[in-house]
Amino acid sequence: MREKVRVAVLGASGYTGAETLRWLLGHPAVEVVGATAHKHAGKRLAELWPQFHGHELVLTAEPPAADVYFLCLPHGEATRLAPTLAAECVIDLSGDHRLPADQHRRHYGFERPGPPWVYGLPELGPERLLGADRIANPGCFATALSLALLPLAGKMSGRVAAVGVTGSTGSGATPTDTTHHPVRAENLRAYKVLGHQHVPEVENAIGGIRLDFVPMSGPFRRGILVTYTLPAVPASLWEGFYQHNPLVRVLRAPPEVLHVVGSARADIGVIEGDGVTVVQCAIDNLCRGAATQAVANLNLRMGWPMQLGLDRIGAVP
Ligand SMILES: NC(=O)c1ccc[n+]([C@@H]2O[C@H](COP(=O)([O-])OP(=O)(O)OC[C@H]3O[C@@H](n4cnc5c(N)ncnc54)[C@H](OP(=O)(O)O)[C@@H]3O)[C@@H](O)[C@H]2O)c1
Repeated sequence: MREKVRVAVLGASGYTGAETLRWLLGHPAVEVVGATAHKHAGKRLAELWPQFHGHELVLTAEPPAADVYFLCLPHGEATRLAPTLAAECVIDLSGDHRLPADQHRRHYGFERPGPPWVYGLPELGPERLLGADRIANPGCFATALSLALLPLAGKMSGRVAAVGVTGSTGSGATPTDTTHHPVRAENLRAYKVLGHQHVPEVENAIGGIRLDFVPMSGPFRRGILVTYTLPAVPASLWEGFYQHNPLVRVLRAPPEVLHVVGSARADIGVIEGDGVTVVQCAIDNLCRGAATQAVANLNLRMGWPMQLGLDRIGAVP
């Protein structure tokens, strides 16, 4: 193994950036050389996030020199910044580099120059990530929706429907009219019905399907639970597909958000019924839906085990 890889997190004052730092600071093969912020630039990391007490990192306005950058920035900022970064690898957690140009324009409302980057869902084939210099980390809903359906790729086609609920950290650190605590806590509402920007990611990943998706914002902080009701398919298909995957667990019971919060794991539950199969996937939106998936992508890019630095036990209630 080479000397430690120098990594930097851009946007570490935000939720995905801080979570990415949390994992990278405990990773055995990387050295965190810096982190940036925008309005919080100049602050000590531990001043902003007391969870990092004991770490002396100061958030800078400009990126430090690094081998690998993690972009944890609002949509559009990654597009602006990426061409200025000279690095072995850039991993973008925003939606800026996930979709082909026409889909990107339709869902994000601006032109993104150049082709999409390597789509960083490890389960689509780790060999695609080996040596990749630009990686687009999947969206959080897209990750859960794709993991639940991937064993059926090439085995089904046509329309498929899903519902999903996400926690409030999915909307980032800045409150808006629909994400502010008083209107979110003790409430449940659907949003972007049949129009969520993660849908084309799933359709592209699975191939041959059209996804009708109803996303909902739930009254909890972390986690995503998505549900498909499908024609009868044996649960053994999911068990076989994921049997060697260290970051996916398959159950014959409903998975729970609480069991994956703070962990890199996705839990998939498959319930066989009479002529019907219900498939659910639970992830932590900030971990498998963002930070730990980005770290898994770095691991595979470097030729390291996918779960290196990621096999921590999640939070208990
Ligand atoms: N939240 C999730 O569950 C999740 C999951 C997967 C992917 N994502 C994607 O990851 C990205 C970050 O999401 P987040 O939830 O972490 O957002 P966030 O909490 O709002 O954090 C945004 C970060 O970007 C910085 N920033 C804001 N405006 C900037 C600008 N003009 N130039 C440079 N930096 C700027 C902020 O710095 P200051 O605070 O110092 O201004 C902050 O560090 C988004 O594209 C999001 O769609 C989010």
